[in-house]
Amino acid sequence: RYRKTIIAGNWKMNMTASDTKKFADDIKAIMPRAKWCDVVVCVPFVNIPAALKAFKDLRISVGAQNMFYEKSGAYTGEVSADMLKDLGVKYVIIGHSERRQYFGETDFTVNKKVLAALEAGLHPIICVGESLEQRELGITMELIALQVKSALAGVPAEKLRKCVIAYEPIWAIGTGKTATAEQAAEVCTSIRTTVRHLYGARIARSITIQYGGSMKPGNAAELLAQPDIDGGLIGGASLKPADFVEIINAAN
Ligand code: G3H
Repeated sequence: RYRKTIIAGNWKMNMTASDTKKFADDIKAIMPRAKWCDVVVCVPFVNIPAALKAFKDLRISVGAQNMFYEKSGAYTGEVSADMLKDLGVKYVIIGHSERRQYFGETDFTVNKKVLAALEAGLHPIICVGESLEQRELGITMELIALQVKSALAGVPAEKLRKCVIAYEPIWAIGTGKTATAEQAAEVCTSIRTTVRHLYGARIARSITIQYGGSMKPGNAAELLAQPDIDGGLIGGASLKPADFVEIINAAN
């Protein structure tokens, strides 16, 4: 393996700080001793301190689900990359399809956020993915290449190794409908090809590409066995300690 396998949970707008502590207590008992993958849990902003404290001994990194690209200033309600970094956050999800859909994020703002995250020393988990209409139109590959290229615009080669790309077909998110391992692998391979064209073979080999969209214990092993799928970004199943651990085990 040239690259890290990363299993990341995305809690979305779920769990209170007390739930976070309870989750950590529950997972402690069943977490595998040795793990060959990195484990991350991306929690709501307000739960970050609780998560950092609760997950410290479990060697689970904490991520945020979003951030703003400006360093500081009059941006009421926003959180900067430096604020996250200062707390001890390691990863930040950028451009999740729910943010693109409900909060007006575009390839342009995603790119600004990626650059700002890297500048602050965070690892961005950059989300890309097509809608069902786009898949049916047969434009998935072009669209994903465009999303990847725009997200990475201006990212220097030496910083690319800090980036994670998550392929999340929108039609598979929270729907129970998983992409087949073949569909997922096809797109993840083409993402690596896009990165190779931009940065060369060595860097393309080293970048972690995750699949996300109804990943669960029942399908994780098959998805993670694909050569270009190096991990998962897990929504629903990451809220249940037993399911999340089963997915971690499938990656080991
Ligand atoms: O970020 C996670 C994805 O949106 C997948 O969510 O596992 O609930 O389908 P899901």
